[in-house]
Amino acid sequence: MGLLQKILIPILGLVLAFCFYSSRENFKPEMLKGKRVIVTGASTGIGEQMAYHLARMGAHVLVTARTEAKLQQVNGKLGTHTCTHRHRKANLTLQVVERCRALGASSARLVSGSMEDMATTRQLVEVAEAELGGLDMLILNHVGKSYFNYFDGDVGHVQKLLNINFLSYVAMTVSALPMLKRSGGSIVVVSSMAGKVGFPFTVPYSATKFALDGFFSSLRQEFSIQSVNVSITLCILGFIDTENAMRAAADVLLMSPAPKEECALEIIKGGTLRQREVYYRYASTKLPLLLRDWAAELLDLLVRQRYRPERLRAA
Ligand SMILES: NC(=O)c1ccc[n+]([C@@H]2O[C@H](COP(=O)([O-])OP(=O)(O)OC[C@H]3O[C@@H](n4cnc5c(N)ncnc54)[C@H](OP(=O)(O)O)[C@@H]3O)[C@@H](O)[C@H]2O)c1
Ligand SMILES: *[C@@H]1O[C@H](CO)[C@@H](O)[C@H](O)[C@H]1NC(C)=O
Repeated sequence: MGLLQKILIPILGLVLAFCFYSSRENFKPEMLKGKRVIVTGASTGIGEQMAYHLARMGAHVLVTARTEAKLQQVNGKLGTHTCTHRHRKANLTLQVVERCRALGASSARLVSGSMEDMATTRQLVEVAEAELGGLDMLILNHVGKSYFNYFDGDVGHVQKLLNINFLSYVAMTVSALPMLKRSGGSIVVVSSMAGKVGFPFTVPYSATKFALDGFFSSLRQEFSIQSVNVSITLCILGFIDTENAMRAAADVLLMSPAPKEECALEIIKGGTLRQREVYYRYASTKLPLLLRDWAAELLDLLVRQRYRPERLRAA
């Protein structure tokens, strides 16, 4: 049995790697030209990089983040210091839009609002319908802020995070589905290794990512049964060098992060090629996951060995 696994795992790995790389060959940036794409959570990080790639490829890009909603809250309520900070953030998001235009996007716009509120999700999709006349790709990428530490027992926080990281994904999918059915479009869901295997110090986050897998993998089955021609791509990412992730985890994680620019491109490629799942980086996501069903405790151990709990910041 041990020997079988020793042989089987590398062979399976090779076969999967071959499938992955050979299908990647078919991608051409022109495939995105003139396509209408929503990218959520695009004010920073991987979402921002996806917006730039799409812009270079000549897509119509509609990006979202909270920015303007935050600004509206500012009126009267908050002190000057916070106000300045928030204005700076708003400008940053507008800079993303400006840069998309400069890079060659067919069009670029920002729609702002918090994904905690389900009414916002509907409005976002309505803007796409009104201003772009339809939608070819919905990239769900935003995540609410959480903590990086032992689970603190705050149930309210889990609920809030489920709203932002999970329910808003469901709501946006429901609202966008008529348009996606018309275009034979794609849904791209950005998830994580933490949505496939238990990870310490991100318990609420991990729960929301597992929920995405359950919802979208089941929905994919129904689409297949009903011949709904809308693809669903679930993206399983390892540690990526975005500002927020580095600030939260770089001290504690014994791993070198992968670059957000390449990560963003792999997500777009996978979505465009209508792949079922995207693994980035492949070697640190898909390959370890091969252990999950056969040697779960070994995988758990390998995951734990990547952390230095003594370096966690005092909660
Ligand atoms: N970086 C990693 O190591 C890593 C690893 C695995 C998976 N991922 C996944 O990759 C995706 C992107 O990660 P990232 O590191 O690029 O994230 P990030 O840099 O923290 O960006 C998060 C984005 O979500 C937006 N956002 C936050 N709260 C929001 C809310 N309530 N309503 C609407 N928008 C909100 C933020 O903009 P505002 O604050 O302006 O609203 C921002 O644009 C996520 O799904 C994440 O789970 C990342
Ligand atoms: C489904 O949509 C894709 C992309 O829009 C298209 O290439 C394909 O022909 C469609 N398939 C069917 C069966 O309509």
